[in-house]
Amino acid sequence: MTDSFNSPINGLTFAPEWAGTNIFMACQVVRDCSDSLYPAELGCIGGVADKRRNTFSTGRSAARAALAEAGLGAAELPRATDGSVIWPAGITGSVTHTDEWAVAAVAVQAMSDARSLGIDLERIKPLEAGVLKLIATENELAELLDTGKKRWHATALFGLKESLYKCLRPSFGRFIEFHDVEIIGLASGRPHIRFNSERLRGHCDPTELELRMAVTAEHVFSMVWQRDT
Ligand SMILES: CC(C)(COP(=O)(O)OP(=O)(O)OC[C@H]1O[C@@H](n2cnc3c(N)ncnc32)[C@H](O)[C@@H]1OP(=O)(O)O)[C@@H](O)C(=O)NCCC(=O)NCCS
Repeated sequence: MTDSFNSPINGLTFAPEWAGTNIFMACQVVRDCSDSLYPAELGCIGGVADKRRNTFSTGRSAARAALAEAGLGAAELPRATDGSVIWPAGITGSVTHTDEWAVAAVAVQAMSDARSLGIDLERIKPLEAGVLKLIATENELAELLDTGKKRWHATALFGLKESLYKCLRPSFGRFIEFHDVEIIGLASGRPHIRFNSERLRGHCDPTELELRMAVTAEHVFSMVWQRDT
């Protein structure tokens, strides 16, 4: 069930030109994969509802498929206290899921410029004004209103911020507010990032971050990776 023809990342399984560096990906239909979980992973889903069991276990299954795409063997992928995946030494990666699809991306640090990465898959849907205000800064809101109202724009903004959070949260070590980060130029296809937080600016130069997104009829898939300097 890996990367079937209607996968929301169809064609991106190994797409260094799109990603800008060697990043391997896998996408699977969400189902119960708990039989394939390792003991430390099973501990993460004790007592959770079926839906969460399915997304978690398919996410781990997709992660192992992405490792296989990179030529690596299967590995236990426990959860860190912040919720992120603990990857084997020398590997960085990220997991995302909707109710239907789980996607994982991995980079082998010796073969890639990526020090860390985050991905996010979102089904395109309109966001209510109240939600938009929570996730978008004044400048982003102005751009959302100003750029021909592309149906995927708000979803892409949200997804890229989630990707950025997943990319930076483990090294930053604290929560990142949506308004701490501003992503401008999305509708033009050349997004760039500004940090509105002194702490974030002290942690990372935004020019080290690479932003990618792919829009299909139903989904926005996004990725943020941090360049190894
Ligand atoms: C953690 C968060 C980003 C997850 O995103 P989501 O859209 O709810 O869910 P997704 O399916 O896309 O991703 C879930 C996966 O993210 C990963 N994840 C969870 N916490 C993480 C963290 N702190 N760092 C990196 N990855 C994390 C996990 O792999 C998780 O899947 P798993 O539990 O099955 O392993 C989101 O719930 C959140 O807390 N967002 C608020 C913070 C934020 O986005 N700020 C924006 C700053 S610009």
